[in-house]
Amino acid sequence: MIQASACGKVILFGEHAVVHGFPAIAVPVSGLRVLVRVHPPEQPGETLQIVASDLDMSVRELHSVDELPDDPLLRIAALTLRAAGQPVPSLRLEIHSHIPIASGLGSGAAISTAIARALLSSCETELPAEKLNELVYQVESIYHGRPSGIDNTVIVYERPVYFVRGEPIELPEIAEPFTLLIGDSGVRASTRVSVGFVSRRIESEPVAVMPLLKQIGELSKAARHVLQHGNPDMLGPLMNENHRLLREVGVSSERLDVLVAAALEAGALGAKLSGGGMGGNMITLVGPAGADAVAGALERAGAVSVRRTTVQATL
Ligand code: PMV
Repeated sequence: MIQASACGKVILFGEHAVVHGFPAIAVPVSGLRVLVRVHPPEQPGETLQIVASDLDMSVRELHSVDELPDDPLLRIAALTLRAAGQPVPSLRLEIHSHIPIASGLGSGAAISTAIARALLSSCETELPAEKLNELVYQVESIYHGRPSGIDNTVIVYERPVYFVRGEPIELPEIAEPFTLLIGDSGVRASTRVSVGFVSRRIESEPVAVMPLLKQIGELSKAARHVLQHGNPDMLGPLMNENHRLLREVGVSSERLDVLVAAALEAGALGAKLSGGGMGGNMITLVGPAGADAVAGALERAGAVSVRRTTVQATL
């Protein structure tokens, strides 16, 4: 059976600042995936069907590659087939996602990427990663308005990415592995809402907000240096400072702050919200000895789930 997958992601530094032209760093979460299985149609001759039983029960159908459907799952299918010069195949795609939605872990971009990959392998064809990235970005725009592009990039390349809007993609080498815990606040939050909030603040108080975003961008630059040269423990204080700045920008929440404080009290090296904020997830950097204690502290502080992920060295 043909199947394809795509990973989740977390933003290590620079969310929100990246929307306004400052650098950010995101890393893949390879253990958290969307899987798409390709089946023959239930009835011969049926058109392309996409079923996402984890998300909802409705069956979506694509009849022509010339359609531009509003539905994001059908939109990526149409864009992929069109880019690959393929007709609509008679297939049934089943999506299984382990990535929670609306929590800053990249579920939308991962679903699009996995659908595109499944269709390309069924048609025994390929698209360059750069092209796939562009298509997934187009679909991300349906969810988020005008996303920076960092989510689709880290997911399509499945590599840590140093990202500046409008500049060539940079995939920095990672000198030493490090482990993060991802604590879910349990509150679903819309990135579109938090991005809109920051844009309105920039309009009404540019002098207060722009320097905060600029400082966040400087933290991303410092973090890139640490990632490339080793001693990842040094990321901890940078994460703490990034969280403090995001609080000042106004995109944290009481629950996220409680989780960040609990992780630090339990011995984490650093902690911050990750993604759009106002809910969703926080991340915390842990050493090998302290991970269990920090995970326990996050659970006691109200995290509805705690996931562990290691960013591998690439050198
Ligand atoms: O999709 P999320 O919640 O991980 O947020 C993406 C990060 C933002 O910087 C807030 C938005 C963007 O488009 O980069």
